[in-house]
Amino acid sequence: MSIILNLFLTSVEAQAGALDVVAKFGAKADLNTDLSKPLLDAWKEACASPAPTTIVIPKGTYLLSQATLEGPCKAPIELEVQGNIKAPADPKDFKEPKWVSFLHVENFKLFGGGVFDGQGTAAYKREGCEKHDFCSNLPIVRLDFLTNAMIQDITIRDSKQFHVNLLGCKNITLEHVTVSAPEDSPNTDGIHIGRSEGVKIINTDIKTGDDCISIGDGSKNLDITGVTCGPGHGISIGSLGKFANEEPVEGIKVSKCTLTNTSNGVRIKTWAGEFPGTVSDIHFEDITVTNVSCPVLIDQKYCPWNKCKMNAESNVKLSNISFKNIHGTAALPEVVKLVCSGTFPCENIELADIDITFNGPNGPAKSECKNVKPKITGKQNPAACSTPVPENPTPTV
Ligand SMILES: *[C@@H]1O[C@H](CO)[C@@H](O)[C@H](O)[C@H]1NC(C)=O
Ligand SMILES: *[C@@H]1O[C@H](CO)[C@@H](O)[C@H](O)[C@H]1NC(C)=O
Ligand SMILES: *[C@@H]1O[C@H](CO)[C@@H](O)[C@H](O)[C@H]1NC(C)=O
Ligand SMILES: *[C@@H]1O[C@H](CO)[C@@H](O)[C@H](O)[C@H]1NC(C)=O
Repeated sequence: MSIILNLFLTSVEAQAGALDVVAKFGAKADLNTDLSKPLLDAWKEACASPAPTTIVIPKGTYLLSQATLEGPCKAPIELEVQGNIKAPADPKDFKEPKWVSFLHVENFKLFGGGVFDGQGTAAYKREGCEKHDFCSNLPIVRLDFLTNAMIQDITIRDSKQFHVNLLGCKNITLEHVTVSAPEDSPNTDGIHIGRSEGVKIINTDIKTGDDCISIGDGSKNLDITGVTCGPGHGISIGSLGKFANEEPVEGIKVSKCTLTNTSNGVRIKTWAGEFPGTVSDIHFEDITVTNVSCPVLIDQKYCPWNKCKMNAESNVKLSNISFKNIHGTAALPEVVKLVCSGTFPCENIELADIDITFNGPNGPAKSECKNVKPKITGKQNPAACSTPVPENPTPTV
């Protein structure tokens, strides 16, 4: 009898399919009880369930020391975060360079309007860095090797380093994700994509201290649309060529994005000298810039902090790249800068309908080109490639 009752209850629960971490696993929204164990217990149960299951973190503010939520799971799994989840503020409280990590999960959805708060203020000041290992590699929300996943209506703020880091993902959509960190927070990229395929980033708002979106090697078939960025360093492919054996970057479309007060608009950056690589089939289209320092940029002399041979040519080959309908205002006169490699000149580059104005001293607006002969169509303001690149260009970050 009791076995039958148990089976009956289990099946009712599986049908309902929702596991509340507070009601069922002892989580407390008191900023004192660590959410880690309740969340991991709920994950373990959900992941083992043969029926689709949703874990719910209700409204309230929680402290979470660290959690790695790992698959594979038996059925689709969802995490509905309604609450505000805070990381430990002190970087020394971390034993590993990660905070919330989703690993090897298929058919996964993260949603719910909640917040992941990295409490990065102390880390930005690099306080106590001499005493622990993770100052240059501090915790982030990691999405590692996820397949068929959706991240929707989630805020990630004040991460200690990159906000969202994707590695090895396939078919993943990030929609209505909000990233927010101070303009002067170091190395706080909004969303970093590496070695992933079929990534969509849709209607997402990013304010941060580094790249809003950065795209590393091995990224293929990405669609980025409706993103607002600023403050920040813009939407960047790269940097590439710093390491050996980097995989090609190909098939990236960035469209209908708005950048405001950023140091770059859309750019591709590869290190001066260093290792080979390829970047192809990249299309930037319908981009609005307001007060952006360098709106259109190919920088194959990327060499921040003088950590390379500035005179060496990049060994990364760029081809089949278009910049179409990019308009607005710049904060510096160099509004278009295509600095390609002398060893591997850029091939099949297109500039179509560029209309960017600059009002300030040191004007008028300039379009600088080197080792590239772009195909030019439509309106060009300023005139395309009107100015040679100076011998010692100012390094960008
Ligand atoms: C991609 O993932 C979504 C879930 O986010 C799923 O609905 C869709 O079927 C997947 N597409 C393919 C081709 O597997
Ligand atoms: C332009 O952006 C910079 C930050 O990059 C900001 O300091 C400045 O006030 C902005 N100017 C206008 C007119 O918005
Ligand atoms: C851009 O900077 C100006 C001046 O600092 C500020 O008024 C404006 O709100 C900023 N815009 C955004 C979207 O950050
Ligand atoms: C660039 O485009 C041309 C013509 O569209 C195509 O033949 C070539 O394979 C492409 N190159 C790369 C590296 O994708």
